Amino acid sequence: MQVALAIQSGDARTLQEQVFDQIRDMILTGRLQSGDPVPGSRALAEQLGISRNTVIIAYDKLLAEGYLECQRNIGTFVSRSLPDWETRPLLPVPAEGEAAEGTLLGRIAAQAPQVHCVRNPDAARLHTDFWIGRVDARAFPQTEWRRLLEAKLRYGGAMLSQYGDPQGLPELRAAISDHIGPVRGVAVDPDEIVVVGGSQDGLMLIARAFAGFAGTFLHEDPGYQGARYLFEAAGYDCAAVPVDREGLVVSMLPEARNSILYVTPSHQFPTGVTLSLERRLELLAWAERTDSLMLEDDYDGDFRYDGTPLTALRGLDRTGRVIYLGTFSKSLGPSLRLGFIAASHATAQVLARWKQLASNGQPWIIQATMADFMNSGGYTRHLRRIRALYMRRRDTLIAALERYFPQSEITGRRGGMHLSWQVPMACGPAARLQELAQARGIGVYTPDCGGACLSPGNTRHANTLLMGYAAIDEARIERP
Ligand SMILES: Cc1ncc(COP(=O)(O)O)c(C=O)c1O
Repeated sequence: MQVALAIQSGDARTLQEQVFDQIRDMILTGRLQSGDPVPGSRALAEQLGISRNTVIIAYDKLLAEGYLECQRNIGTFVSRSLPDWETRPLLPVPAEGEAAEGTLLGRIAAQAPQVHCVRNPDAARLHTDFWIGRVDARAFPQTEWRRLLEAKLRYGGAMLSQYGDPQGLPELRAAISDHIGPVRGVAVDPDEIVVVGGSQDGLMLIARAFAGFAGTFLHEDPGYQGARYLFEAAGYDCAAVPVDREGLVVSMLPEARNSILYVTPSHQFPTGVTLSLERRLELLAWAERTDSLMLEDDYDGDFRYDGTPLTALRGLDRTGRVIYLGTFSKSLGPSLRLGFIAASHATAQVLARWKQLASNGQPWIIQATMADFMNSGGYTRHLRRIRALYMRRRDTLIAALERYFPQSEITGRRGGMHLSWQVPMACGPAARLQELAQARGIGVYTPDCGGACLSPGNTRHANTLLMGYAAIDEARIERP
């Protein structure tokens, strides 16, 4: 075993004192615990580039003072007879919920950010779960991925053990650029793409990169908790802008300069409405007038069932003010943690630098497999397959809702993976219906339970239930 010791050449202490002090501190701060083995004297001497005698002298002192014990023919260990209090960290770590107040750690803990729920905590108790955005795991293209992954492992060579381009694997950026051009009308060069760990990671990079430059963070009401909570936690002033049947009400946007506006134009989260072309153009004019930026989250833009999809905002943008966020979380699954940002060249380069500082880029093996999957045509085939599957499920759900609740108002049916159902007055409050359904093993969700933030005065969307249908077989949707 190795321990993280280092010999400092300018240190006034002797070499044996340095070894003694560092091992003792590791024991006292809990990094080495009672019963843990320590390296043999020969191995440690080699590791530190010092003589074995020096280590033996330091170990003898640690043995003499009771920090270490020797077991004949086995090795040297942290003493098992050290009382608990001695092995506690020297730095006071506040016990949970107490003593923390006023200390740095206590203040940090008290201000821990709100987080959105990405997994349904009640899933195990449900037999039919309409959780929003849930992907059908059975539809994952396992055979193709296994083959491509294995090839990468076998022939990856040096790439398996070195850092790659923090902006993202060039082959993957090229494949993404080829994909979103025709499919979403977003014409970008591979240089204008940054590969990220899902849209959330992209939002985090943007929040960091623009902190101190951008003013208010504006978002839709109702809107996506994951974006609002993040920018709030990053210290931005946040404000909500209402959404109606045509999406964000652009006329209600403040004329505040240098704002950042987060929008979901293709399938508004959570209502599912599509932002009209007229409003898209108004938005671009607003951004130019106020010198603001827009974050276009196209989280489920791969799924459009009726009519041609509207060109993404980024595809209409002539001034580089739209930053497009794409994700593979909905088409393949969030476990890959793979998504991308498409922005102007200058913005992409800034974000690539932040990506390097944040994580030095996404894992090579996943990026390389995804690039091959896209380049071999596998991704397009997969999308075609699951689009047809999800469309059947959408149709089944709409038919069932309309049959049992004839006065239903349903939005978001033209694309995506969930519907927003305005609960008829006669059925009582949506929250009550959610409770009743859960008691019968069925998960349906009010906006706030389904990952949406809703301002307190927003009564228009309060009596709504969100229903994700992509992962549920038609027969179950029909008869849960
Ligand atoms: C509005 C919205 N944006 C983005 C995402 C995807 O996030 P990620 O790509 O980080 O998995 C989700 C996931 O549910 C979402 O609802």
